[in-house]
Amino acid sequence: MADDPSPTLDTLLQEGRSFPPPPDFAARANCRDPEVYARAEADPEAWWASWAEKLQWDRPWDTICKWTPPRARWFLGGRLNASVQCLDRHVEAGHGTRTAFLWEGEPGDTRRLSYEEMLRETCRIANALKELGIGRGDRVTLYMPMVPELAMTVLACARIGAIFSVVFAGFSAASLRDRIQDQEARLLVTADGCWRRGRVLDLKAVADEAVAECPSVEKVLVLRRGQGVETASAGSARDVAWEEIVPRQAPECPPESMEAEDPLFILYTSGTTGKPKGIWHCTGGYMTGVYATSQLVFDLKPEEDVFWCTADIGWITGHSYIVFGPMANGVTQVMYEGAPNHPGPDRFWEIVEKYGVTVFYTAPTAIRAFMKWGDEHPAGHDLSSLRLLGTVGEPINPEAWIWYHQHIGGGRCPIVDTWWQTETGGIMITPLPGLTETVPGSATLPFPGVGAAVVDEAGKEVETGGGYLVLTRPWPHMLRGIWGDPERYEATYWKRFPGRYFPGDGARRDERGRFWILGRVDDVMNVSGHRLSTMEIESALVDHPAVAEAAVIGVHHELKGQAPVGFVILRQGFEPGEELAQELIQHVGRLIGGLARPERILFTPELPKTRSGKIMRRLLRDIAEGRVLGDVTTLADPGVLDQLARMARERESEEA
Ligand code: WTA
Repeated sequence: MADDPSPTLDTLLQEGRSFPPPPDFAARANCRDPEVYARAEADPEAWWASWAEKLQWDRPWDTICKWTPPRARWFLGGRLNASVQCLDRHVEAGHGTRTAFLWEGEPGDTRRLSYEEMLRETCRIANALKELGIGRGDRVTLYMPMVPELAMTVLACARIGAIFSVVFAGFSAASLRDRIQDQEARLLVTADGCWRRGRVLDLKAVADEAVAECPSVEKVLVLRRGQGVETASAGSARDVAWEEIVPRQAPECPPESMEAEDPLFILYTSGTTGKPKGIWHCTGGYMTGVYATSQLVFDLKPEEDVFWCTADIGWITGHSYIVFGPMANGVTQVMYEGAPNHPGPDRFWEIVEKYGVTVFYTAPTAIRAFMKWGDEHPAGHDLSSLRLLGTVGEPINPEAWIWYHQHIGGGRCPIVDTWWQTETGGIMITPLPGLTETVPGSATLPFPGVGAAVVDEAGKEVETGGGYLVLTRPWPHMLRGIWGDPERYEATYWKRFPGRYFPGDGARRDERGRFWILGRVDDVMNVSGHRLSTMEIESALVDHPAVAEAAVIGVHHELKGQAPVGFVILRQGFEPGEELAQELIQHVGRLIGGLARPERILFTPELPKTRSGKIMRRLLRDIAEGRVLGDVTTLADPGVLDQLARMARERESEEA
């Protein structure tokens, strides 16, 4: 992009344009009333309660919010079931025949499922889970492809009060094992395989390897993905075939009446240590938040819209904006199993055209890839059904924003750049598409009722300028904790700026109060919109017999946003070389999953450390990105730097 800036793009960026909501969009938007911000701000609890009231409760709450920092509990005394919000409610209201999912498998196989069918299948699965001895409070791990059964199994767990935990199918056996062990799951639900770029991933074989070290797992329920998918797994007595237990169940299953604060799910995400955190969310507050944000941010109109969120259900985006938020709103959605460039680089646009997608939500990393693949791919399809676009997962560079606006949105669709995290459960900083003027690169304003600020090192609020992003008051869909580790919850999010939630991001506020998210300020990287911990990758490298010490940093990457680079000190007797570098990269892939594989390995005799022994990551980043070195006075042995910088240069000239 940098070498060949298209003149129009360049001009647009220089203009520093802002984009008011298009009048015809604003006129019909779910949220048209600018007073909404002031109203929510005046009484945030009443605001959130007004959304909770739109859900179907078995018993109303007595107290809206009990805030005993750093713990918040919402809708105390209230009881409800999450699956009822997503299924029964719509069927009972006479919308059972409305399409819930238009599913597209990677090889091109398709399915259309109505809300009625989703309810029946969910109940069958729920009954099967019960037959397998699963009940309220039990943990169930899901390691599945992007098929409708994944959404149904999530809802089936919610229906019987089991706590589900989805592990993205790209994670390794070791990662799956660690997560199952951490939550002591009794059941694993998996499949024989899934499609990825024309290849079948043998999920069952990976699951077998993981479960071999998981004594808590009593049964493994195995779905057949069909269409030429075949596992090499030998099978075991623990296995239960989906087709033997699910189809014969009754299609009704009474929902468990859950307390608002009962856990709904656990989802693991990377933190600053080597061990992923099991973030857990509750039932009432979470459902309230994802319901409200889906309706206002994506402007969902169940009668008309076809919503497509391209995330995998293995990430929080898929939990909140495929399963719970949009389904609670009763909207029709596209679900796609495969990669954006398989079989061709226009796959997404073909799907948008085929199903008449109206609201489209994806990640900046995907947008940058589309830009690189060429304008002709979206141009070759009719994208006129689109009326609103969204992004999530990482800061969006203005070039990508403008390209998205022009080439996908046809210059007419508002773009919502949504900032949030696994921990926040739902969108926190975002434009409201019918109200907010947008500027490329800014997530703009806190969602109504959300308190956000930028503070300096000392915690003092910065009105205009840069600093740390904090959230200043509780919200219903906030995480309730880290599974099995209450202290870590407090230490991670609430210690840095007491009384305020610290998400780990840097941010800037402009003169108009808009937020510009600058990215992580901790040892977490954002690779293609996926969170990775430097420590986790370092541990994986050090696990290899050749490695004595390793430091991993995230360096700027044109497509992925950031990419991991590993600096490695070898043990005696091992020689640096391309072959070993490749082996180490593969080793990380095997231990964590393909998404964590370092982009490059640089062998080094030493690592730059402060006098107190801390690795100077900032310096490593400067070296890897070829920048001039900053302040190095705290460095123990400055000679190390010359050597590292020289190596990085040599490396680059070799590649060039
Ligand atoms: C980053 C994904 C800039 C941020 C929903 C955050 C963003 C982390 C944005 C959470 C955005 C997410 N602009 N940065 N619009 N959205 N991030 O938990 O660093 O996978 O802390 O949740 O992604 O990643 P997570």
